[in-house]
Amino acid sequence: MMMKVDEVKCIGCEQCVKDCFLQDIEMVDGKARINNITCIKCGHCIAVCPQNAVGTDEYDMKEVKAYNKEGFSLDSETLLNFIKFRRTIRQFKEDDIEKEKLIKIIEAGRFTQTGSNSQDVSYIVVEEKLQDLKALVYESLKNLAQNMLDNLTPKTKAYERYAKMWLKMHQEYKENPKNDKIFFNAPAVIIVTSRSDVDGALASSNMELMVNALGLGTLFSGFFVMAAQQSKEIIDFLGVKEGKHIVTCMVVGYPKVKYLRTSPRKAADICWK
Ligand SMILES: Cc1cc2nc3c(=O)[nH]c(=O)nc-3n(C[C@H](O)[C@H](O)[C@H](O)COP(=O)(O)O)c2cc1C
Repeated sequence: MMMKVDEVKCIGCEQCVKDCFLQDIEMVDGKARINNITCIKCGHCIAVCPQNAVGTDEYDMKEVKAYNKEGFSLDSETLLNFIKFRRTIRQFKEDDIEKEKLIKIIEAGRFTQTGSNSQDVSYIVVEEKLQDLKALVYESLKNLAQNMLDNLTPKTKAYERYAKMWLKMHQEYKENPKNDKIFFNAPAVIIVTSRSDVDGALASSNMELMVNALGLGTLFSGFFVMAAQQSKEIIDFLGVKEGKHIVTCMVVGYPKVKYLRTSPRKAADICWK
């Protein structure tokens, strides 16, 4: 797996040398040469080269897109409004999500930056087996709640309210599985796993933007993550890879609610120095 400069195309401008954070590129006889020793395959050399002279067998080079202003820029006011208007969705239509849309959401995660360019984020999409997963999650939350209430300590006291809520949610779900306060009857969930919380969360955040751009909506289910952390059965059911853990659970579907305005927020806590 190598990054390679096409010596015929290279004009020796040194742009790649300057932009290589790992200092893995040197000039030899007026041409750039990548040593592939410290390289983390970040692709900056590919992206910066005015001659498009850098290639690799590490990735599919057909994916590389040339910049054009119309296709690649976003007005800042629109972006901020888009972020402000995003809401957690807890009312979903039953409609399935088109496969292309699910793939596009995952593409938004795949192209998100990762520490050391580890690209260690994985995605588990649950649609067909969602009812089976749901049953496991409600069971696990019930057990977790019961455990908490049986062993309340000053540290877990803050969770007492949640524990009681989970027991009620479990009971209502048992009465009628349509009473679903974890996945809200959405047609799909995407579970993001990683070795790194930061990598997984950054990917999830970009995925959420894409969800909204596609006319879909999402809810990050912290309850699911807590239930899954307690349950080997859920981890095995999902096939979470060795060394990775669940960072987020994105409940996805078409919203059955329309918001008419943004929601207010606290003033930012900023310290200028
Ligand atoms: C990490 C995380 C976990 C969350 N877990 C849940 C959850 O388990 N159930 C739920 O109904 N909402 C959950 N939420 C949604 C928050 O309650 C919601 O983001 C917040 O109230 C603000 O509303 P908004 O997203 O519409 O701006 C979660 C949000 C985040 C970021």
